[in-house]
Amino acid sequence: MKKLTAALVAAGAAGALLLSGCSSERGGSSTEETAGTSESGGGFAADATIGVALPQKTSENWVLAEQLFVDGLTEAGFNPIVQFANSGVTEQQNQIQAMTEQGASVIVVGAIDGSQLGSQLEAAADSGASVIAYDRLVKNTDAVDMYVAFDNFQVGVLQGEALLQGLAERKGEGPYNIELIAGSPDDANSTPFFEGAMSVLQPKIDDGTLVVVSGQTSFEQVATQGWKAENAQRRMDTILSGSYGSAELHGVLSPNDTLGRAALTSVAQAGKDTPVVTGQDSEVESVKSIVAGEQYSTIYKDTRELVAQTIKEIQALQKGEEPEINDTESYDNGVKVVPSFLLTPLIVTQENAAEVYADDETLFPLTQE
Ligand code: GAL
Repeated sequence: MKKLTAALVAAGAAGALLLSGCSSERGGSSTEETAGTSESGGGFAADATIGVALPQKTSENWVLAEQLFVDGLTEAGFNPIVQFANSGVTEQQNQIQAMTEQGASVIVVGAIDGSQLGSQLEAAADSGASVIAYDRLVKNTDAVDMYVAFDNFQVGVLQGEALLQGLAERKGEGPYNIELIAGSPDDANSTPFFEGAMSVLQPKIDDGTLVVVSGQTSFEQVATQGWKAENAQRRMDTILSGSYGSAELHGVLSPNDTLGRAALTSVAQAGKDTPVVTGQDSEVESVKSIVAGEQYSTIYKDTRELVAQTIKEIQALQKGEEPEINDTESYDNGVKVVPSFLLTPLIVTQENAAEVYADDETLFPLTQE
């Protein structure tokens, strides 16, 4: 335990150094202070304004995050500004700029498009604010001090493994006909989700166990703009009518629950048997579907934990202390490897849903119906 603590503290110190290096690089405060600290270098005011720029409500976890941030930041004594950018990237850029102008000491960003916020976040950092990327990495800028998320490459690995397990359980011997779906191309998470899954599935495609009947296997071919269910359903409709005839579709790799349910709808409307379908986010409709034996799996990324960890990091920064970092190598944003705190995602199937959701008062009752 001692070794682990020392390692975490060392990683934390590395994180703090990175934080201070970051603000000094852009002519911010002097190097001995960490980003967003007052002249004394002792952090910032206990009732500081904290900006939280959320993307769009493409899944339930984002809706939940809004109230958790408002309540948690207020409880911690801060002044929260929590906003969704429902009309898109330009709105999110303007919101981040306004948060900086309102003197936010920390800006938390759940980016719609992590590659289009560089100038707004550089202005925020130059004002002395710290920038925390939440759930989705911010790309191509050094104006991001840390990243707090579930390990999204591991999410993909779990999805790939669940697809193979579900095929063996429900579809007898291979080879299996499958199709691949990826998330929105502007969401920095979509690539690690897909790459994680393909690290498991590609060898099975190569050895013939899995056959992608449509031939669509590249990220560009299978990505779903805006995470929109209708886009995924339309693509599946086209594939089924164009490539399958009477052939069965045994499995679908889906990166989250909304797109997984869209795939299930498309296959049902084509009059075919229910395929093994993966998902993510433990949305209520999908948990019900998994308990009923339809959707095969989802991923539990407890939003309460993710928000709580982000607020913990903000409280450390407020005291001028080291943020909690447990990964300094996985997430390269194109300019630097961003120090991160990664939480562990959990696979959920019909078999373990009651156990995984035991402490979740919304989801556990669904497993008892
Ligand atoms: C991702 C997020 C997933 C899911 C998806 C759909 O960035 O990590 O949990 O919410 O967006 O919006």
